[in-house]
Amino acid sequence: MIKVAPSILSADYLNLQKDIETVEKGGAEYLHIDVMDGAFVPSISYGPGWVKAIRKVSNMVLDVHMMVENPERYVDEFADAGADIIGVQVEATQHIHRALQMINNKNVGAEVVINPGTPVSAIEPVLHMVKQVLVMTVNPGFGGQKFLPETVAKISELNEIKKARGLDFDIEIDGGVNNETVVAAANAGATVAVAGSYVFGSDDPVAKVNAIKDATK
Ligand code: DX5
Ligand code: ZN
Repeated sequence: MIKVAPSILSADYLNLQKDIETVEKGGAEYLHIDVMDGAFVPSISYGPGWVKAIRKVSNMVLDVHMMVENPERYVDEFADAGADIIGVQVEATQHIHRALQMINNKNVGAEVVINPGTPVSAIEPVLHMVKQVLVMTVNPGFGGQKFLPETVAKISELNEIKKARGLDFDIEIDGGVNNETVVAAANAGATVAVAGSYVFGSDDPVAKVNAIKDATK
């Protein structure tokens, strides 16, 4: 069964603690926190202060997805704020190896992220360094977009490499995930599913978390 990471991008910011507690009690394992800088992606979202505040009220795995140019600049701050996993986009830095080293040096789970247009080969040299690979299943920047089915082949490719090299990273998917789109991705080897609008756009977020899990039993 796949692990679920509700994305607070679609939560009610003025009632954020309530939304977080709802999905935590409802069985979600991760909480996905989308950091956007207005440069790597058009939107601006939130910074380390949010992670610090959320850390105080939640024991979920805090999964920080940095959609930020030169993310090395902020790794230490997010680690100190209490992130459990920090994800950096391979497209956002000339020094992906150094960025992942920095995350590992803080004893935080290192994650590398690839956009829909980026091949798996771009991250092959750093796969031994990561706890998780995030395969974007939409172009990053906004919630509520449609899942891109052509990304599923990259999940299979990664899963093959994982087996062949004896690595044990999680494969996470992010964008357009619901109880239908998750099925092909899970069959291809995805082990963690981010879901924003599907979960928090619903009157019953816990039912949606369970629907994703049930679809991948
Ligand atoms: C998109 C973000 C996602 C977003 C997903 O750039 O990385 O985490 O919250 O939203 P949905 O699930 O609505 O596609
Ligand atoms: Zn994300």
